[in-house]
Amino acid sequence: MILYCYIKDYDASFMAPFFKAIAPEADFRPWPNWGNPEDDAGTEAYAYVWAPPHGELAKYKNLKAIFSVGAGVDHLTSDPDLPRSIPVIRMADESLKDGMREYATMAALWFLRDMPKVQNQQKSGTWQQYFPRAPKDYRIGLMGYGNLGQAVVEALKPFGFKINAWSRTPKDDDRVTHYTGTDQLQEFLGKTDMVYALLPHTSETTNLLNAESLSWLPKGAAVVNAGRGNLIDLDALMQALDSGALSGAMLDVFETEPVPADHPIWQAKNVIITPHVAAITRPDTSSAFVIQSIDKLRKGEQLPTQLSFERGY
Ligand code: NDP
Ligand code: OXD
Repeated sequence: MILYCYIKDYDASFMAPFFKAIAPEADFRPWPNWGNPEDDAGTEAYAYVWAPPHGELAKYKNLKAIFSVGAGVDHLTSDPDLPRSIPVIRMADESLKDGMREYATMAALWFLRDMPKVQNQQKSGTWQQYFPRAPKDYRIGLMGYGNLGQAVVEALKPFGFKINAWSRTPKDDDRVTHYTGTDQLQEFLGKTDMVYALLPHTSETTNLLNAESLSWLPKGAAVVNAGRGNLIDLDALMQALDSGALSGAMLDVFETEPVPADHPIWQAKNVIITPHVAAITRPDTSSAFVIQSIDKLRKGEQLPTQLSFERGY
């Protein structure tokens, strides 16, 4: 079995020891040493990739499946030549869930405890006590209730937060009050003190948080985006922050990454920016996920995180 590996901006050979440890028989090939596609036409192969050059995967007709290094697959679906006849698998290892639980906990406590206000007080040397809200009175609205959204609930529930979730299809989960589809988006946002977005990049999720939908949030609500940058109209967000309609935002993902140094979002009021690090795939857990998944695919099993080309995630 050949394992082709490409991780944009990294020398993918750092993954070799992780795959060797659990699959010593695998012929691990970090980019650019993938070899001539014709030479290996008869050998079963898999790809473990992040943002590979467009057209590259299509050259390897021996591929049986493509594994995304991350949970998002927009770095693959943007390739017009992405093979559509083999499974594309979204990452679903424990490291992503751990990272997202930590980031969500940090964000929820940050906004529950009014940290943007505290930061502003500190800037002006103001000592002003206030009554922190109780988690039971603070409504967190999860936009996206998939693999990671459900992990976030596990982390936030013990604090006592009231958690609502919104997704494309209905869910039966008594840990949350669930809302479905665009018909229920206004009602959902109207009951949200902190949005925590974990949506994939698709045509349906693009610009979903715009001037109109942001105005459905209660005054003083906060917005956290750990999904994809296409979700938010940043101009509308900055306007809502400036006017005080929203109290703050924590943004990990952007339409253009890295965010250009002169982009106004860097200086926007009450905004925390993190450089797409909310949840990072770890080499040990993700290599194990890939090898276990290959085993299942060989047995003809369907994997729960297989990309649906129709849905776009
Ligand atoms: P899943 O595919 O498991 O979950 C996606 C969720 O989004 C589902 O609940 C799905 O609804 C919902 N959804 C998709 N489209 C729509 C829509 N049009 N309207 C309403 N809901 C929609 O993905 P994960 O939870 O594993 O990951 C979510 C995203 O998080 C990834 O796609 C990636 O972009 C991002 N991510 C970011 C990271 C970071 O470091 N910032 C790290 C890892 C992931 P339904 O349940 O009905 O299908
Ligand atoms: C991912 C990401 O998709 O890092 O996993 O954004």
